[in-house]
Amino acid sequence: MVHKSGIYLLLATAICVLGGCHGANILGVFTSLSPSHLIIQMSTAKVLAERGHNVTVITVLKPVVNHKNITVIMVPLTKEESQQMSDTIGAMSKTDNSNMILSMLRMMGQMEFMFDKMAGALKDDRVRDLYLNRDNKFDLVLSGYFMNVYQLGFAKKVKAPVIVVATMPPNQLLNPLIGNPLEIAYVPSISDSVEKGKGMSFRQRLAGYSSSFFFGIFDFVTQRRSKRLYKELFGDDPNMPEYSELVKNTSLIFFASHAPSEGPIRPNVPAAIEIGGIQVKDTPDPLPQNMAEFLGNATDGAILLSLGSNVKGSHINPDTVVKMFNVLSKLKQRVIWKWEDLEKTPGKSDNIFYSKWLPQDDILAHPNIKLFINHAGKGGITEAQYHGKPMLSLPVFGDQPGNADVMVKQGFGLTQSLLSLEEQPFKEAILEILSNPQYFDKVASFSSLYRDRPMSARESVIYWTEYVIRHHGAAHLQSPLVHMSFIAANNIDIYALIAVVLVILVLLLKLLLQFIYRKIFAKPKKEKKH
Ligand SMILES: *[C@@H]1O[C@H](CO)[C@@H](O)[C@H](O)[C@H]1NC(C)=O
Ligand SMILES: *[C@@H]1O[C@H](CO)[C@@H](O)[C@H](O)[C@H]1NC(C)=O
Ligand SMILES: *[C@@H]1O[C@H](CO)[C@@H](O)[C@H](O)[C@H]1NC(C)=O
Ligand SMILES: *[C@@H]1O[C@H](CO)[C@@H](O)[C@H](O)[C@H]1NC(C)=O
Repeated sequence: MVHKSGIYLLLATAICVLGGCHGANILGVFTSLSPSHLIIQMSTAKVLAERGHNVTVITVLKPVVNHKNITVIMVPLTKEESQQMSDTIGAMSKTDNSNMILSMLRMMGQMEFMFDKMAGALKDDRVRDLYLNRDNKFDLVLSGYFMNVYQLGFAKKVKAPVIVVATMPPNQLLNPLIGNPLEIAYVPSISDSVEKGKGMSFRQRLAGYSSSFFFGIFDFVTQRRSKRLYKELFGDDPNMPEYSELVKNTSLIFFASHAPSEGPIRPNVPAAIEIGGIQVKDTPDPLPQNMAEFLGNATDGAILLSLGSNVKGSHINPDTVVKMFNVLSKLKQRVIWKWEDLEKTPGKSDNIFYSKWLPQDDILAHPNIKLFINHAGKGGITEAQYHGKPMLSLPVFGDQPGNADVMVKQGFGLTQSLLSLEEQPFKEAILEILSNPQYFDKVASFSSLYRDRPMSARESVIYWTEYVIRHHGAAHLQSPLVHMSFIAANNIDIYALIAVVLVILVLLLKLLLQFIYRKIFAKPKKEKKH
């Protein structure tokens, strides 16, 4: 397998050198305020930098994933704004968000602030200089997606083709950009909600239709905001296309998903490229020595505990921390615990190793890790699934409760609310996962499907990025659906025509029958009269 991909890359290099796309200038516009989005987007940029391309990225947050050859133009939040974000996340983690729709609505309250900041980054002088300064030439733009279609205007400004980098699977918000079909009759919105070997029942389709309807309203609101921001940012330039044209010009979308292992099984157009797991290294880096020794000597196995980049240790209720410590310190397994404030740790214990910063991916790759306790962020779950490690998820807010439910349904582990965590159930859940092999077996078999691909996520990013550059935007890949209205795309006008023709035929038939009827039965009457 290593050989094949090696030869493949060599081949791609040869094609690329011949095609003249080596050392391309690539611009990433990654303004999202979500650290987990930025990790996926920066991982994509990093692959391209490692490949030898000259990558520049615009960010608001400080990237955790980076590379020496990536130029980062950061338009940071002010201290107060960072505090506001951090407080909001803290507040959200202290209220119960087990209802996904409610917590999504709460998040929408925060959206205005986020959109202001994302659009604001594009007004920064250093950012505007990227298109105002004629010396800058870009061969390709990567646009990080967060309901910010207006950002495609930036690619127009630098006159480069654009690839959208999405942190989710194909969905209703993104499909229209590349004419990917929606197919709600058999594509569920949550991938595992249809049983294997079965179609979708009437009830499932009705639920799918309703959620699609609400997504449609959400999309309408989002697009209106996006249109307004597009005018605000680029409206002064008469050479810029109308918004309705802007959205018909995306070369590809990189989706952070992998349908054959994760589902849903659905048709995708050639411009939909799945790069799920891009943030996971194909081969892990060596661990820092103290961590390597701590894990290497864990003869009874080890547990990794990390509640993600959004939720800092101090956001968690102190009582909860004490309860967690009481359970973990009594285990025979060793524990690596991500904890920000090393001055004030939850407590000292020989089997617990606190660290402010964790190479999570490399730790999960370690064979002694038997359990990953996490907050059900999509990134962490992906890494654990890649490395085949069972999980105990303690979701807090946003999409986390939903992610945790999906993970539990898949059989990869268990979930408990962080807010109502109690010692006894916490301990029981840990012991259950460590002692019952079913969780490990399920996630290990997923892992083997997840890794079994014709091209790895890294290879896909390199190949398709260079493909778009080689073919100047690769417009030949574009689905005609991009240019069609709802009526045309669903053949509603054809059905209308058929209906009209049928009605006319029926009317004609009726007239004909009346005529024949009269001929046969009315004739004698007429003759009588004459
Ligand atoms: C790399 O990109 C930057 C733009 O961010 C540009 O200033 C620089 O000249 C480029 N380097 C090369 C070698 O093209
Ligand atoms: C960065 O780019 C330079 C020039 O293109 C190259 O020589 C060097 O190897 C790159 N560094 C890394 C770490 O890839
Ligand atoms: C985008 O628009 C430009 C200019 O009209 C065109 O040359 C290019 O082929 C389009 N690309 C795609 C993917 O539609
Ligand atoms: C176990 O720890 C000792 C130091 O305490 C270290 O020398 C040794 O290399 C460790 N073993 C492994 C497998 O890492």
